[in-house]
Amino acid sequence: MTKKVLTTSAGAPVSDDNNSISVGPRGPLTYDNHYTFEKLAHFNRERIPERVVHARGTGAYGTFTLTKSLKEFTIADFLQNEGKRTDVFIRFSTVGGGQDSHDFARDPRGFAIKFYTKQGNYDMVGNNTPVFFLRDPSKFPDFIHSQKKNPRTNLPDPRMAYEFWANYPQALHQVTILMSDRGIPASYRNMNGYSSHTYSFWNEKGERFWFKWHFKTNQGIKTLRAEEAAVADPHGAQQDLVEAIDRGDFPSWTAKVQIMTEQQARDAEVNPFDLTKVWPHDEFPLIEVGQLELNRNVDNYFAETEQAAFAPSNFVPGISSSPDKMLQGRLLAYQDAHRYRVGVNYNQLPVNAAKCPVNHYQRDGAMAGLCPAGGNHHQTSGANFYPNDRDDGPAPDQAVAEPPMPVEAGAWLDRFDTDEEDHYTQAGNLFRIMSDDQKQQLANNIAGGLGQCDASVQQRMLAQFEKADPDYAARVAATLQAYRV
Ligand code: HEM
Repeated sequence: MTKKVLTTSAGAPVSDDNNSISVGPRGPLTYDNHYTFEKLAHFNRERIPERVVHARGTGAYGTFTLTKSLKEFTIADFLQNEGKRTDVFIRFSTVGGGQDSHDFARDPRGFAIKFYTKQGNYDMVGNNTPVFFLRDPSKFPDFIHSQKKNPRTNLPDPRMAYEFWANYPQALHQVTILMSDRGIPASYRNMNGYSSHTYSFWNEKGERFWFKWHFKTNQGIKTLRAEEAAVADPHGAQQDLVEAIDRGDFPSWTAKVQIMTEQQARDAEVNPFDLTKVWPHDEFPLIEVGQLELNRNVDNYFAETEQAAFAPSNFVPGISSSPDKMLQGRLLAYQDAHRYRVGVNYNQLPVNAAKCPVNHYQRDGAMAGLCPAGGNHHQTSGANFYPNDRDDGPAPDQAVAEPPMPVEAGAWLDRFDTDEEDHYTQAGNLFRIMSDDQKQQLANNIAGGLGQCDASVQQRMLAQFEKADPDYAARVAATLQAYRV
């Protein structure tokens, strides 16, 4: 086989990759070594900042196939016709650890999907849990800091996590999921995905519906016990996914939605926009709408998975936000992170680029390229302002105008202390449907970290468990006691 010729990054053939140019065999190097300098300079710049959360992950391409039309609820192009196939890119991740952490940490898993639709990219940036620890975005940095390493020792510190949770009982529902047997998925293929947030659909008549996504694994849920995770390969989840796809064993998920009308939302006992709560399945049944399959690995991990930029604000006509306060925080956070982490033109990289024409009046910036799918975002037509008189200057389209979003009548601007609300019933309900073995695993997993905390943190956590279910508190207390003796 003839080898390809090695070149510089500018494409010129290279004659020698081992020996720099020097003044005689034992002498110093000279300025003629621009090739060596290029190699060293590029090497110095190989890293970009890792994601501040969800730094460790793995991605793959696939297809979403619609099996039930959602025309009744939304004008979204990719949700109209049964059988419609839409290309997707998915990235799974752990949350708290850095890029060099462990695939089998007890941690939620990110479940982010980019749908490349004909009307632009729609991103569903969810987790493998239907709820979250928080319901006000101002708490996100505090919560994440409490999960990361201790700022002085740079060591994992479960005392910080429990200290935060002891002071923030809203987190109890998600803490119960995290500490349960579901807390460590055996692989990315064996877990579900959820939007967790409530989003909205709107249809041709301008009617709005609230909805949540559920992606149920067709491989079945599989989890690791704490003792199994402790000896698992740190790269096991990455390896499992890549190898499954390489051998043609394509993982898939059944896509479902829960839908609520505006009136049902007004009447709902539980705030439907509270991210710490689920919607009862008996009142809001899961409707099966599609199949999601992963069938192609990336060619280059860094170019595709690492530079993938998901944003909950990437909506398409027919899909929008909701009054969920956490969601609003996220609508601002992600593009800001991408501009810092990847660069201002991150949407022009192939993994992020829309597969439909992109026409706008944003100009230039670092690493500006040409839109792969066409369009005139580089103003090759010369029009770089709006309004303008040119036939080829893009103009807004009223046909995709979103209907007005309802807000509480007579509401006023203030800070609302919602701490008196019920943080315990749903956590207790979850505890009560667990088997005896699952309840004991929960107690063991909690006691492992809580046992390292001071008495005041332990007491406040036990008081929370007690409010959820007295047996929950009793089991954790007994397990803590067993660890002490
Ligand atoms: C106010 C709350 C939140 C804030 C401010 C926030 C912020 C961020 C930021 C800055 C990133 C890194 C983005 C990047 O550099 O590409 C990120 C990643 C991520 N977040 Fe959040 N987040 C919040 C809540 C959530 C929630 C509730 C979920 C799930 C329901 C979630 C799911 C994810 C996922 C899956 C990723 C990784 C996306 C990827 O694979 O690239 N986040 N978040």
